[in-house]
Amino acid sequence: MHETSKDDAERKQVTVLFADVSGSMDLAEQEDPEEWRKIMQRFFSILADTVTRFEGTVDKFTGDGIMAIFGAPVAHEDHARRACYAALQMLDDVAEYAAELRRAKGLNFSTRIGINSGEVVAGAIGEGGGSYTAIGHTVGLAQRMEALAEPGKAYLTEHAAKLARGYLDLRDLGEFEIKGASRPVQVFELEGVGEARSRLDLARERGFSRFVGRERELARLEEALGRANAGEAAAVGVVAEPGIGKSRLYLEFLERCRSEGVEVFQAQGQAHGKSIPFMPILQMLRSFFGIADNEPEQQAREKIAGRSLLLDPAFAEDLPLMFDFLGVPDPERPVPQMSPEARQRSLAEVLCRLVGKPSRRQTLLLVFEDLHWVDEGSQAMLSGLIEGFGGTRTLVLFNYRPEYTPPWAASECFEALELAPLRREDTRELLRDLAGEDPSLDGLDEPIHERTGGNPFFIEEIVRELAEAGYLEGERGAYRLARPIEDAGVPVTVQAVLAARIDRLDGDSKQLLQVASVLGKEVGEEALAMAAGLDPEEMERALRSLVEGGFLYEAQLYPERLLAFRHPLTREVAYGTQLAEQRAATHAAAAQALIELEAPERYDELSALIADHLRQGDETLEAARWSARAAHWAGHSRPHDALRLWRQVMELVAELPEEEETAALAVHSRLLQLQYAWRIGMSRSEQERLAGEAEEIATRNEDLHSLALLKVATAVRPGLDHYGPDWLVAVRETVELADRSGDRHLRAAVRGAGAYAYLCNADFEGFERILDEMLEIVGDDGSVGAGIVLGSPIAWGLMGKGMVRREKLEFEEAEDLFERALKIALDEDDPETASWIRSNLASLLIRRDPEAALAIARRNVELTDRLGDVFSRSLALSNLAWAQLIAEEFEGALESVEESERLYREAMDSGGEMEGWRGQLRARALVSVGREEEGLEVAEEAARICRERAMLWAYPVAMLTLARARAAAGADGVAEAFEEAERVARECGATTLLMDIEEERALIGPEAAAKPRS
Ligand SMILES: Nc1ncnc2c1ncn2[C@@H]1O[C@H](COP(=O)(O)OP(=O)(O)OP(=O)(O)O)[C@@H](O)[C@H]1O
Ligand SMILES: [Mg+2]
Repeated sequence: MHETSKDDAERKQVTVLFADVSGSMDLAEQEDPEEWRKIMQRFFSILADTVTRFEGTVDKFTGDGIMAIFGAPVAHEDHARRACYAALQMLDDVAEYAAELRRAKGLNFSTRIGINSGEVVAGAIGEGGGSYTAIGHTVGLAQRMEALAEPGKAYLTEHAAKLARGYLDLRDLGEFEIKGASRPVQVFELEGVGEARSRLDLARERGFSRFVGRERELARLEEALGRANAGEAAAVGVVAEPGIGKSRLYLEFLERCRSEGVEVFQAQGQAHGKSIPFMPILQMLRSFFGIADNEPEQQAREKIAGRSLLLDPAFAEDLPLMFDFLGVPDPERPVPQMSPEARQRSLAEVLCRLVGKPSRRQTLLLVFEDLHWVDEGSQAMLSGLIEGFGGTRTLVLFNYRPEYTPPWAASECFEALELAPLRREDTRELLRDLAGEDPSLDGLDEPIHERTGGNPFFIEEIVRELAEAGYLEGERGAYRLARPIEDAGVPVTVQAVLAARIDRLDGDSKQLLQVASVLGKEVGEEALAMAAGLDPEEMERALRSLVEGGFLYEAQLYPERLLAFRHPLTREVAYGTQLAEQRAATHAAAAQALIELEAPERYDELSALIADHLRQGDETLEAARWSARAAHWAGHSRPHDALRLWRQVMELVAELPEEEETAALAVHSRLLQLQYAWRIGMSRSEQERLAGEAEEIATRNEDLHSLALLKVATAVRPGLDHYGPDWLVAVRETVELADRSGDRHLRAAVRGAGAYAYLCNADFEGFERILDEMLEIVGDDGSVGAGIVLGSPIAWGLMGKGMVRREKLEFEEAEDLFERALKIALDEDDPETASWIRSNLASLLIRRDPEAALAIARRNVELTDRLGDVFSRSLALSNLAWAQLIAEEFEGALESVEESERLYREAMDSGGEMEGWRGQLRARALVSVGREEEGLEVAEEAARICRERAMLWAYPVAMLTLARARAAAGADGVAEAFEEAERVARECGATTLLMDIEEERALIGPEAAAKPRS
């Protein structure tokens, strides 16, 4: 029996069994209480003994029955099967006793059994440590099955049936409405033992998957067979974790052997077999003598005698021993008296002679499967066999899991063969066989290979689980992906196997594995030791057993030992076995370990991880602080992360009482989310809610600083459908508010943000003035005002000044400023401003060197693509479209601007201040590809938007485009459009645009410009 590794409560996958005597109350009246007690006691002991025999735990006596758990305290991968075997045995034994009582006392007895599998919380519950028990919905449902069962029957839920099917015969009784269950439960009646003995039998029944890989291993087995054929007896042990394919490898190999005339005999270990002595040896001998399961005794004896005497007449004197051992003793030939040890030795010797008879012409192949479940007696006999079979034509094959090492491991004729997981390409092939080749399945191999670590059993089960959960549609071998796979969970069958392996670990190792599962898929040794609270010696011992057992591997040895989970599923299961409270404590300890062990220079990069541990460790305030740090660090380089982290800060702070710090974080987290709203998109209502909440908290706390930033977010920032003059008013008010706060950073940041309004209003003087103010406040300290609204104020300021120079036709100065700005933006890690600067550089080069401009614009799109910032990406695409138009790549231009528009639309609720400008670009592209009518329509609309919103920078450009579009479509009003464009451009001092207008006019010609509609 196993030891309980730990007494704290755990979440476990188990099978719960309830058994009672039906109608016991009526029966009790017929009998004297004392007599009745005796009967019940006998009844209880039948039930309890059966539970113990299958290594279950009697949880409690219920008055007229028992509750038993299989799979706890120690997990068994076959917990459901064990419960069913126990149930069958109980039904039999009780029926026998009942028949006895019916005969002797005329009493009528029968029992009912209910079985269910699922998760429970198991552990010592009750005062002063209490006794071991399981609680949870799973228990209740098992009890309901018992209540539902007819007398003399055992009923299973679908959950238990799923684990037991194949191994046991089940009859589907259909769905039942069960009190306390949210949906009907499918109920099965347990009818008997099924055909399948091993997982492979089950697989055979379902149809084997195509055998993949394993060329090398088959070759090694062939070699060993070759040696045996040459009279050089050999033994091979295939070692691997459950499900890797040990049995399947043998199956394939044995088929080849049989076809070559090799005699094969097999024995199969059973998970509950340790308590049944000599099971594998008995199985082997029965298979050797060809004795069937229910063979009459006399016939069996004849077979034994016949075969052994044929091999060697000297076996005659061993026959009594053999008969006795095989359970068919001959009353006429009793076994001589001897000690158990002597008996065992004699048997081993007989076995050796049977197997090793040198005169045999045929090679003999013996296969012992699942040796890790072998009992001591059988193991000793096998040792004897290996010692004594040298020089015979025998090959003995074993397989077992890594936690077992056979005592003959060092023997010369023995070779251990470690079976590795499937290779990537084998997984791919297996998946093609299981799931098919529908294009919708593309890209599934990688994640499945990763998740299962190339374990074919896990792969098969995951595919089945995905099909059952409706992620895959169709039939085996021809599935389609029905919906994207998010979190598909661990199949219960796989979970049972993994949980049982974990439970066989000693206490420290198991705890260490659980702690590691909380820390991550790869963990540093020091952090692990600290979080687990183990001393170096305990730690070393526990780690060794985890590495040797194949749970963890050393992913790195230097400079620090890093340990990683061999497959993610183990981690998921180890994580899932812990109670939420225990897990939270480990998360908190993990965060602490990271903070203490890591160099502060690494804090930024680790902040999100630390915050995550703190959050799950219920250290809310600390979690909010570290999340804020992580959000700052993510910044504009990873806007999606930043937004998510700020939202996390907000949610964490909401759980805390309002104090100075929490109030500040509450406002700040909302303001920063709003900052990302115009960059990556957010619904209008969400923005309004955030702004409203922030305003309320900031006002309550008289936080001028935040109120100024809030005004930036609601009235000044890009991405709103601004009306030009109002926008400028809002900017002035915000600047005033910031100045009143006296905060240098804020004063600079607000001016930087507000400057854009002057630009869109085509007020170049105002634009330069406010930028100069900002640059003066900043001085040469680049950090002033940085990262509040815009990344680098200096870079942005220099870029803006370059734009003004450009409008003054001072191109060299402009280029110089752009270059300086770009360098600063890159140095200060501000990819966002850098992308805007590149757009401006491209536009500056457009006239002089369209190819170079195009190259810059293209590169800019690539770079912003990685940013994940919709605003900048849409802008970069628009600018590319512009460069493409000049370079006469019209189709490409249309594509770019349409993509720019689509991106923006999808992320934001409105078109923003650039709507008119994007519109005119699209109109130009449409006209250029010959879709004049559409182009005209879009151009009219773009011009209208610019006019109505008084976006004076874009308006004359839109009018010029309208002139073009009208001319191209042969519409009226070409001259008027030119005039309007020119008038506004002149008024605003948009000189580069005036050049465009002149050029375009010349191109279209005065006649065309005046041409009436045809
Ligand atoms: N090379 C392979 N190609 C295709 N399928 C395989 C391969 N190896 C194993 N399988 C399938 O994976 C499943 C598990 O294999 P198998 O039962 O041989 O594992 P095992 O290592 O013997 O596990 P256990 O230790 O639990 O007995 C089976 O359904 C088997 O058919
Ligand atoms: Mg096997």
